[in-house]
Amino acid sequence: MSRRRKLSAGRHRLGVRRARTGDLDQLVEMWQELHTGHYAYDRDYYRLRPVRRAKAEIRKHFAARMADPDAIFLVAARGPELAGFLMGTLSTRPPVMPRTRRFTLDSAFVAPELRGTGVFSKLFARLKRILAGLGDVKHVELSVDVRNPAVAAYGHLGFEKLHYKMVHVLGSNRNASESPRPNQE
Ligand SMILES: CC(C)(COP(=O)(O)OP(=O)(O)OC[C@H]1O[C@@H](n2cnc3c(N)ncnc32)[C@H](O)[C@@H]1OP(=O)(O)O)[C@@H](O)C(=O)NCCC(=O)NCCS
Repeated sequence: MSRRRKLSAGRHRLGVRRARTGDLDQLVEMWQELHTGHYAYDRDYYRLRPVRRAKAEIRKHFAARMADPDAIFLVAARGPELAGFLMGTLSTRPPVMPRTRRFTLDSAFVAPELRGTGVFSKLFARLKRILAGLGDVKHVELSVDVRNPAVAAYGHLGFEKLHYKMVHVLGSNRNASESPRPNQE
């Protein structure tokens, strides 16, 4: 039975727990869906290696994050079926700042058929409880494509815009008239 059909069967209650290695097959599929979904925003920027290679790499990466004490990797699941996940990393802010840690949300995904039903809210609520328990984490940060509807979801959950991440594509023709002239470099 496909993941889609099992999820809609809904025999199990939705729960949130730490990710484990037995989740890796489903997590890798979700990651691929998350990543290729970004092709709609910018195919060149988000282009992947050949898919088998990319999946093998992300599997290793996810397994390492599950074992990393500075990472928090949560899944929302109904029985054995994953509904979504959230993964991120704790880091210490630069020493010129007060010694609080920050949590960077690296990845978040909810199965398309369950979006808008509160799955991510449950994951995020659990994350906040874990972070509150650590006592020295003050900020949760993330980076998101400006065209992603997730921006609105994050806004609903209390995220505010603080920085712009800007990308200059080297070799593009845009602003070609501003390129340095010979002898000016
Ligand atoms: C972003 C994502 C994880 C949100 O998960 P979700 O389970 O649908 O979110 P929730 O149902 O818990 O909604 C959280 C809040 O955002 C709102 N929201 C969710 N999706 C929204 C949308 N597309 N537009 C506007 N608001 C939205 C909900 O109404 C809710 O607000 P409320 O608490 O005020 O009612 C999910 O849409 C997703 O997987 N997107 C594709 C993958 C992706 O791009 N991830 C982000 C990478 S940075």
